[in-house]
Amino acid sequence: MRAFNVPESGAQPVVSDLPVPEVTDGTVLVRVKSAALNAIDNGLATGMMAAMLPHAYPLVVGRDAAGVVEAVGAGVDHVAVGDEVFGHVLLAPPVQAGTIAEYALLPAAAVAAKPAGLGFDQAAALPLAGAAAFDSVQALDVQPGQVVLVTGATGGVGSYAVQLLAARGATVVATGTAADADRLTSLGATTVVDHTSDTPLAEQVAASYPDGVDGLIDLVSYSPDALALGAVRKGGKVASTLNAADEQVLAEAGLTGSNIMAAPVREVLEPLAAQAAEGTLKVDITQVLPLEQAGDGLATIASGAARGKIIVNIAD
Ligand SMILES: NC(=O)c1ccc[n+]([C@@H]2O[C@H](COP(=O)([O-])OP(=O)(O)OC[C@H]3O[C@@H](n4cnc5c(N)ncnc54)[C@H](OP(=O)(O)O)[C@@H]3O)[C@@H](O)[C@H]2O)c1
Repeated sequence: MRAFNVPESGAQPVVSDLPVPEVTDGTVLVRVKSAALNAIDNGLATGMMAAMLPHAYPLVVGRDAAGVVEAVGAGVDHVAVGDEVFGHVLLAPPVQAGTIAEYALLPAAAVAAKPAGLGFDQAAALPLAGAAAFDSVQALDVQPGQVVLVTGATGGVGSYAVQLLAARGATVVATGTAADADRLTSLGATTVVDHTSDTPLAEQVAASYPDGVDGLIDLVSYSPDALALGAVRKGGKVASTLNAADEQVLAEAGLTGSNIMAAPVREVLEPLAAQAAEGTLKVDITQVLPLEQAGDGLATIASGAARGKIIVNIAD
């Protein structure tokens, strides 16, 4: 099969031929039509995360996919050969299986039926980013009428988080430049604050919400010092997808919070797909690349310039 893979540790990813994976107990072999890129794909492809999780090579890049079931392993009974599905390769050592390939082996727990009304690109764009957004909103236990700031709102996770918050009746303050304002507003943001401006975020937020926001979903800060804690009222909650929610630092600011480890399992994927199919959750795909250009998509994400989701088309 053609696969976008890292042939050996330290090498650049290439598109080359690899054996089709063999289905094992509790797994689903999917003939991939669409795969989505995520920020973590760069971390895995470069070996940056190898100290945390052993990698094995050749390592196929990509975690999210949508396609048609080719084979199911023993113990899998919720999908069958020929079904249209989507899902995620959950992180487990050694990291080797991936989705940017003609075939992908997915753990059954992270495979869900694709609603007929949802395209393969849209379904592939849901798992990791959608689950991270869903888990972040859950962690904040957002109530109708609350105000939540999303930093990194323009990216894959942020685009879903803005919508899920608005759907819960929250007022959403989203980061983005002037060029992003219309897109963010159409996703449900009430206020857009510019993270590239010289005026600190907390000051921009205070101009509209002088008492501070009730919650912060941070998708961009790698350390607690970088979080816009000054924008959050005392007693507010913080969720970080980058492990920046340090309990002690938050407590000193009168806040609580949690670090998100997204779990794109079937129970999370099915409701996200249902909302996307009925049109209440917009799947914001900004680029669809052919397999040979998957590396360009990784570079766009690494540069920090990604908007919405980038899809790799594997087969029509
Ligand atoms: N813990 C988990 O389970 C989990 C799951 C999924 C993702 N993540 C992590 O969450 C982060 C977001 O993921 P993603 O897929 O949404 O990434 P992405 O698609 O690359 O989006 C990142 C976005 O953040 C914006 N941005 C960068 N620096 C910013 C800043 N200082 N302030 C405000 N916005 C800024 C970028 O826009 P500009 O071009 O305007 O800077 C870009 O649109 C990634 O680091 C990813 O690794 C974690």
